[in-house]
Amino acid sequence: MDRYVVRSGAPLSGSVRVSGMTKNAGLKQMASALLAPGETVLHNVTPVADLGVMIDLVRAVGAGAEWTEPDQLRLDTSGPIIPEAPYELVSRMRASINVLGPLLARCGEARVAMPGGDNIGSRKLDMHFRGLEAMGADLEIVHGLIEARCETLCGTRIVLDFPSVGATENLLTAAVLAKGQTVLDNAAREPEITDLAAFLNRMGAKVHGAGTSTIEVEGVAGLTPVDAEVMGDRIEAGTILMACGVAGGEVTVAGTRMEHLEMVVLKLGEMGLHVSPTPDGLWARCDERLRAVDVATLPYPGFATDFMPLVVALLATADGSAIVTENVFDNRFGFVNELHRMGADIRNEGRHAVVRGVDRLSGAPVRAQDVRAGAALVVAGLAADGETRVLDPYHVDRGYPDLAGQLQALGADVQRVRPAPA
Ligand code: EPU
Repeated sequence: MDRYVVRSGAPLSGSVRVSGMTKNAGLKQMASALLAPGETVLHNVTPVADLGVMIDLVRAVGAGAEWTEPDQLRLDTSGPIIPEAPYELVSRMRASINVLGPLLARCGEARVAMPGGDNIGSRKLDMHFRGLEAMGADLEIVHGLIEARCETLCGTRIVLDFPSVGATENLLTAAVLAKGQTVLDNAAREPEITDLAAFLNRMGAKVHGAGTSTIEVEGVAGLTPVDAEVMGDRIEAGTILMACGVAGGEVTVAGTRMEHLEMVVLKLGEMGLHVSPTPDGLWARCDERLRAVDVATLPYPGFATDFMPLVVALLATADGSAIVTENVFDNRFGFVNELHRMGADIRNEGRHAVVRGVDRLSGAPVRAQDVRAGAALVVAGLAADGETRVLDPYHVDRGYPDLAGQLQALGADVQRVRPAPA
C-alpha cells in the first residue's frame, strides 16, 4: 500500500512553481468544451487522478481526448455527442456533475448519474436542479439517473440560496447557449468562476460580472473551441504556505496570484507568517512559533474551506488556542481523529473545533480521508517527532500531482513510498 513517509527536519528553503489547477478549474474547462463542436487544446494540465476520470467521461460521451505534450491535452468534440454520463465514472468524482449543463445546452437532453455524497458533507444538488428548471428544463431522478431535457433553454433570473461553486458553473455553462439573458444572483465569486467565464467568453460567449455576486449572460447561438491555459493552483500555493508555517523557513511560490489568497495571507500574517507578493507569485518567511488565531471558512473571498484542515494542522502546534468554524461543508472534521493520533489537542463539535496548540506533535500512522485532509496530515508530519506515515495517499493524488516532490524541492523530508510486495 502506498503511503507518504514524513519526518521533521530543517526549515524549508527555496522556490517552487505551482501546478495547473486541474481539479478545480481544468476539469470545468473540459466539461465546457463539450458545448462547442471542434478541437479545444488545454495547456498547463497536470496529471492528477481526477483528470483521468474526466478524460474517461468525455470519451464516454463521444469526445476524443489525447495528450499532445506532457502538459497539453486536446479534446475533440467534432463528432456526435452521446449525452449520457455513466455511474461508474460519475460516482468516482464530484466534478462529473459539471457535464450536466453543457450536455443539456448542446444536446437538449442529458442523462447523468447522481454523484454519491462524499466524506466532507452531504453535498446536495438542489440549486443546480432548480436553476436548470427555471431555464425551462424538465428534470427527473430515475433509477439513480438525472434525466434532463428541454426544447429550448431560456434565460431567466436565478437567485442561488448559497453561492455554490458547482451550481454557478453548471448554470453558467447552460446559460451561454440559452435564448435571451440569464442573471445569476448570489453567484459564487471564486477565481475559478472568473477563469471559467473568461474561457467561455473566448469561445464567443457573452458573460459579464463573473467574480461578483451577479453574473449576466447573453445567450449566443453557438460557440467556437479555443486554446486555453489552466490557471495556477491557488490551493497548492496555500498548502505550501501552510507547510512553511509548520516547518519554518523561507520559500518563494511562483505561478500564482496573491490576491487569490488574500484572506489566507491575512490570517497567516496574524499568526506570524510573513507573506508578500512577487511579480509571479509570493514569498513567505516564518522564523517563530506561530500564534493561534480564530478562523471561520466562507465562500470566496472568505477563508476557503479547502484550507481548513491545513490551518487546523498549523494551529495544532501554534502558541495558544483557537476556534475553527466550518461554514461551507457540514462534515469536514473527520481528519481531527487522525491528528489526535499524532498528539494534537482538538475538540470538535458539529461545525466547530477548539484547537489548543501543543509544543510538538508525535509522528504516527494516520489515514487520509479526503484530498485536503490528506495534505494536512502530510504538513502536520513536518512538525512531528519521528516518522508520520500517511496511508491512503490516493485521496491526495486527486488534487495534487506531486505534493511530495513540491515539498522535497523546498528541503522537506517527505517521501512517497510504495512498499515492496511481501
Ligand atoms: N450545496 C447545496 N446545494 C447545491 C449545491 C451545493 O446545498 O445544489 C451546498 C453543498 O452541500 C456545500 C455548499 O453548498 O455544503 C458548497 O458547495 P459548492 O457547490 O460550492 O461546492 P462544490 O462545487 O461541490 C467546489 C470544489 C470544492 C470546494 C468547494 C467550495 C471542485 C471540484 N470542488 O465544490 O473543492 O471545497 O467548491 O469552494 O471544484 C477540494 O478541492 O478539496 C474541494 C472539496
